[in-house]
Amino acid sequence: MLGSRLLLLGVAAAAHAKYIVPGARWRDTEGNLVNAHAGNVVLDNGTFWWFGEYKIEGQEEGGGVSVYSSEDLATWQAHGLALEPVEGHPYINPDMIIQRPKVVYSEPTGQYHMWWHADNSSYGLLLQGLATADTIAGPYTFVNATAPLGNWSQDFGLFTDYKDGRSYALYSNGDSVQGRDVYLTSYDEGISALDTVTYRFNKFDLEAPTIIQTEKSYYALMSHKTGYRPNNVVAFRADSLSGPWSQPWIVAPLNTRTFNSQSGFTLRIEGSEKTTYLYLGDQWDSNSLWESRYIWLPMAIDDDKKTLQLEWHDVYDLDVKTGDWQPVEGKTYFANDATTSGDAFKQEANFASEGVILTGIYGNDSTVTFEGIEGTGKPQWVSFYYQNTDDMGFGDQPGGSPDRIGGKWQLRRISSVVVNGNTEQVETLFQRDTHKGIILSTPLQLTLQEGAGNTITIGGLFNGIDYKGADIDKIVVYPPED
Ligand SMILES: *[C@@H]1O[C@H](CO)[C@@H](O)[C@H](O)[C@H]1NC(C)=O
Ligand SMILES: *[C@@H]1O[C@H](CO)[C@@H](O)[C@H](O)[C@H]1NC(C)=O
Ligand SMILES: *[C@@H]1O[C@H](CO)[C@@H](O)[C@H](O)[C@H]1NC(C)=O
Ligand SMILES: *[C@@H]1O[C@H](CO)[C@@H](O)[C@H](O)[C@H]1NC(C)=O
Ligand SMILES: *[C@@H]1O[C@H](CO)[C@@H](O)[C@H](O)[C@H]1NC(C)=O
Repeated sequence: MLGSRLLLLGVAAAAHAKYIVPGARWRDTEGNLVNAHAGNVVLDNGTFWWFGEYKIEGQEEGGGVSVYSSEDLATWQAHGLALEPVEGHPYINPDMIIQRPKVVYSEPTGQYHMWWHADNSSYGLLLQGLATADTIAGPYTFVNATAPLGNWSQDFGLFTDYKDGRSYALYSNGDSVQGRDVYLTSYDEGISALDTVTYRFNKFDLEAPTIIQTEKSYYALMSHKTGYRPNNVVAFRADSLSGPWSQPWIVAPLNTRTFNSQSGFTLRIEGSEKTTYLYLGDQWDSNSLWESRYIWLPMAIDDDKKTLQLEWHDVYDLDVKTGDWQPVEGKTYFANDATTSGDAFKQEANFASEGVILTGIYGNDSTVTFEGIEGTGKPQWVSFYYQNTDDMGFGDQPGGSPDRIGGKWQLRRISSVVVNGNTEQVETLFQRDTHKGIILSTPLQLTLQEGAGNTITIGGLFNGIDYKGADIDKIVVYPPED
């Protein structure tokens, strides 16, 4: 029931998708969830191609590599699987790991080359796979899976220097005591085999590496190793790929865990007016990997100060031709003005927008309602700013205490969102763990009536353990796309 409703909403959304909305349910032009995790985006003859791990509902691995195309980085058309698993194949059968795929054009071969972390299900092989195709969307044909320069390779990245066209593999070399490095290794001219080690990020024990290049600098972004739980992504800077590289620093506000995401890819958009740098992160959902979302954000880079920071915006408008982007302005409704029912109440919270947060949200009888909301009659993005105190950091991380409700790692609460009291249409709002006192937001696309008389009611839904909704600070209603 809910699924089919969401699908209908998705079709409506796809018709005028234009804004980039980090953490939303992104749908392709057919209304299906965009399913391309930990991959890369390639600009080819004016079209963007997005490759990523295709996750099957209820399964961790075995889906192969999907591919989508777009003219604007916001509207995505599905082209099926670029690399399909093959039963009985030694490296790409559905039981094997095909992770972090990256596609690059090879001038000398005239083909597209796809590289990825190739492994068995216990991560015992630590290889790099190569498949090739004559056309960018594929299908790609398996070539081989090899050990890079005889060594190990786990999380995989690929970087091409825009100045000289040279490509490099970036890979963490596993969790063993002998490993825990990240390698930057050049490819041969054809991008068919590795050449020489350019640099080794020695013993930082990081993963999910990617490099973004500015006029003057290279910045290498990587995450710590906490599985599907996000952590503080760091960056290193250098004038040259061979180093010296700087000390790493944290690229997003502390304790937001990089706005609940993991690094994986970065995209340089050289527009006619400016160059924009995008962080393309994954928001893994270990409860249902196939629904994991994407956190794509602009990066503020200052080569003189030698800094790089991610900038959070709920909704932004990117023009890939000019390179220009603008945050979209919304209208804010604060906790103080909401009404509560049942055991929900307003509580002092000095970190909240107006010193008060809405808490005690539970099931469908302890709810909060925002009234007098202006709508347009068209689908609009609404961001829900929340705090979910079910910390899930590791014991050894700053501010982290294990979240062990019922003895299980739990990455999110789920709230119900109802517009104008219409309980026939209940939207599900995923609210991932935040640290205590840290407020993050999740967007939903809602259709409000035209005029100022709308209500939005938030309750708690079952997340597998409990019916608690996260605490609400405010909501922001954005203008429709057109
Ligand atoms: C590039 O795209 C244009 C149309 O957008 C097309 O006419 C042309 O053939 C394409 N070139 C290649 C090499 O695919
Ligand atoms: C993966 O490969 C390693 C090395 O060959 C092997 O020891 C391990 O048993 C393999 N795991 C699986 C699940 O096949
Ligand atoms: C695949 O890689 C292995 C290991 O590097 C090598 O021995 C073998 O010759 C390669 N096979 C092909 C078909 O290139
Ligand atoms: C393999 O990787 C380890 C860890 O980075 C390194 O110490 C060793 O020198 C590498 N071996 C080769 C042959 O490159
Ligand atoms: C309210 O929640 C109860 C369970 O707590 C459930 O049985 C009931 O169906 C819910 N009512 C509505 C209208 O969703």
